[in-house]
Amino acid sequence: MKDLLSMRDLNKEEILNFMKIAEKIEKGEIKPDMSKRIAALIFYEPSTRTHFSFATAMKKLGGQTITMRGTASSSVQKGESFADTLQTIAQYSDIIVIRTAIEGSARYAAESVDIPVINAGDGANQHPTQALLDLYSIIKTQGTLENLTIGIVGDLKFGRTVHSLVQALSDFGPKFYFISPSFLKMPEHIKDDLKEKEIEFEELKDIEEKINNMDLMYVTRIQKERFADPEDYEKVKDSYILTKAMLENVKDSFKVLHPLPRVNEISTDVDDTKYAYYFQQAKNGVFMRQAIISILLGGVK
Ligand code: CP
Repeated sequence: MKDLLSMRDLNKEEILNFMKIAEKIEKGEIKPDMSKRIAALIFYEPSTRTHFSFATAMKKLGGQTITMRGTASSSVQKGESFADTLQTIAQYSDIIVIRTAIEGSARYAAESVDIPVINAGDGANQHPTQALLDLYSIIKTQGTLENLTIGIVGDLKFGRTVHSLVQALSDFGPKFYFISPSFLKMPEHIKDDLKEKEIEFEELKDIEEKINNMDLMYVTRIQKERFADPEDYEKVKDSYILTKAMLENVKDSFKVLHPLPRVNEISTDVDDTKYAYYFQQAKNGVFMRQAIISILLGGVK
């Protein structure tokens, strides 16, 4: 495996290997050494968690990072092409982590350079490192990835985290409830993949309808930045708000996950319940990103 670009590229065995290595790193059973390695973090779109957790992961591995955030202070402003920018950065680093608003840009980057490329989010397409940390969070809270009933709420059309997560879970016999406004339903190509694999899913409009059947609920933000028309965003922005009162009869082991950032789709009164797991989920991102960097750079076998 040279790159990590899409969950579609990973089989079940590879996914479980990422889980195993992240767990060993978290428990201190292995300490991969990246002390001679440099990661280039290229973020053309805003980020808090992905950027900071990759930077933290690299530091914990003993390595270093160089960063480009946005294009304002780079030679892109002088007309340098994306390909030339990547070729140049590849001369200074051992691995590239890239986020852009353009679908397919991470794959283009991987084809442009010889060093490993990690997709840290390409538009509405994929966010595979988020999916892997989500799976790691699910294993830690449910004890398994197999045969879970999962509600996925919010922007299912443009949500790259949910596209990656649904594909990632599809090898593990899930049942899905997709809950979204009709304008933001799960794309047909993802539903077609699920039908082909005979994975059960239902599309719902009401957040509470099946909540008591679920093992976990994965809530996402309605993403203002993906709407061409701001009026369309205004119509759907507050479609779903999960509150503490809605959790009264959920399973004891139920958990609420969210890739974050949150706007107001989870009420803050959920934060202090035993069901909220979204900040621990963000912490799990460091262990998983340590595992990803170490595997791609050959630091663990
Ligand atoms: N979950 C996630 O991708 O968060 P950031 O946009 O803050 O990186």
